[in-house]
Amino acid sequence: MTDADRTHDLVVWGATGVAGRLVAEHLTAQYTRADLSLAVGGRNRDRLETLAGKLTRQADGWDELPVVVGDATDPERMRAIARDTRVICTTVGPYTSYGTPLVGACIEAGTDYCDITGEVTWVREMIDRYHDAAVEAETRIVHSCGFDSVPADLGTLLVQSFATETFDAPCETVRIYLADGSGGVSGGTLASFAELFEAGETDPLARRTLRNPYSLAPAGERSGVDTGERRRPRTDPFSETWTAPSPMAPVNERVVRRSNALLGYPWGREFQCTELVPTGDGPAGAITAGAIAGGLGLFRSAMSFAPLRSRLRRYVFPRLGTEPTAADAEDGHFTVRVRGRGIAADGPFTVEAEFGADKDPGYGATARMLGESAMCLLRDEVDSPLGGGVLTPTSGIGRPLVDRVRSIGFTVTVGGVDTPE
Ligand SMILES: NC(=O)c1ccc[n+]([C@@H]2O[C@H](COP(=O)([O-])OP(=O)(O)OC[C@H]3O[C@@H](n4cnc5c(N)ncnc54)[C@H](OP(=O)(O)O)[C@@H]3O)[C@@H](O)[C@H]2O)c1
Repeated sequence: MTDADRTHDLVVWGATGVAGRLVAEHLTAQYTRADLSLAVGGRNRDRLETLAGKLTRQADGWDELPVVVGDATDPERMRAIARDTRVICTTVGPYTSYGTPLVGACIEAGTDYCDITGEVTWVREMIDRYHDAAVEAETRIVHSCGFDSVPADLGTLLVQSFATETFDAPCETVRIYLADGSGGVSGGTLASFAELFEAGETDPLARRTLRNPYSLAPAGERSGVDTGERRRPRTDPFSETWTAPSPMAPVNERVVRRSNALLGYPWGREFQCTELVPTGDGPAGAITAGAIAGGLGLFRSAMSFAPLRSRLRRYVFPRLGTEPTAADAEDGHFTVRVRGRGIAADGPFTVEAEFGADKDPGYGATARMLGESAMCLLRDEVDSPLGGGVLTPTSGIGRPLVDRVRSIGFTVTVGGVDTPE
C-alpha cells in the first residue's frame, strides 16, 4: 500500500481523553487543514463529533475534522484504521489493557506510530513481540514521547552529541535531574501506574522487567554496569547537593539505556545513567530528600498491596477522563537538567543540557511533545540510522524533535560546564 492510498496523514487516537484532546488542540492550533490531513479517533462517535465541532470552531484553517471510531480491543478495526492512516499517535491507556492491537496493526500496515506510555512492562512486551517485525516492515513504533521520556532521552542525546563533537569522547556517566516543575497528574496516568504494579504482581515477565535496569535493552544485552534506580536520599557528587529518588527513574533510565543499545553503543557499554531529584544543600536539602524518598516508598508500598491499590483507584485517584481546567493544562512548568561527565585526551570534562517548558509537564507539554513527535514521523524528519523497530524518542526520531519543540517555545540548551580544578 502506498501513502497516496491513505485517507489521513495523522490520527490522534484517544482524542476524547485528557491528553488526546490537548494533542488535537495543539495540532489544530499549530497547523491548518491545508498542511495536515488530521482526524480524531476514539470509541465514542458522539463525543468525537462534539470535539471535532469545537476544534473546527476554535482553530483557524479547519473547516472539517474527520472522526475515526473503533474499539481499541478490536484488532480488525485497528487494522482498518492503521491501513487508512500514515501516522497514528495514541493516548488510549492504560496501554497494557488497550495498546497491543494497535501496535500490531500499525506494523502490518506499515503505519508509523508514537505514544506516551510509561508502562515499561508493556513496552518490554512490545519489544519481545514486535521489534523484529517492525524492523522488517521498516515501521517506526516510538514509545514514551511525553514527559516520560523525551526530556531525559533527548537531553542525554544532546549531552552526548556535544561531548563527542567538542571533546571527541562521549560522557561515561550521565545524571538526569528533575530540577524544577509544577503540574498535575491525570486519572489516566494514575490508572496506568496502577496497572504497572498489578502486572508486577501477576506476570513473571513484568516482575523481571521491573527488577532489571537493562530490561528494555535488546535480547542478549540485558546486563551492564548500572545497578538500578536509587531508593534513598544521598548527596550527589555531580550536583553537590542532596538528591532524592525520582518517580520517573524506572522509566527514563531504561529508555535511555535502550537508546544507547539500539544505536550500537555510541556512548560505550560502560555508560551509566541515573535520574534524581535535586533538593538543595544543608539540612533543608537533606530533610526534603528524606521526605520525597519516604513519600515515594510509602506510595510504592501502598500500590504493591492489592486491596489498598484498589481503594486508592476507587476513592482517591481522579476519575478517568476528568479534565484539568484550561489553566491547569497550560500552567505549570518543568526543567530537566542532564549533566554528563567524561574524559577527553586532555582531561575530564562536564557537559550540561537543559530541557524545559512553561507548560504543565503531564498535560500541556506532553501533548505538544507527542504531537510534534507525530509530525516528525509524518514529515520524515528523523535523524536515526534505524528505519524501523520498537524504538525510543532518541533512536526513533532524534534531533529533529528538539528543533520542533524549540520552535514551539520549549527551552532546550546544551554546552560545556567549567568545573573547578
Ligand atoms: N508520558 C507522560 O508524560 C503522560 C502524561 C499524561 C498521560 N500519559 C498516559 O496517557 C494515557 C492517557 O491518559 P489520559 O489522562 O489522557 O487518560 P483518559 O483521559 O482516561 O483518556 C483515555 C482515552 O482512551 C479512550 N479509550 C479507553 N478505552 C478505549 C477503548 N477500548 N477503545 C477506544 N478508546 C478507548 C478514552 O475514550 P473515552 O473518552 O470514550 O472514555 C479516552 O479517549 C495514560 O496511559 C497515561 O498514563 C502519559
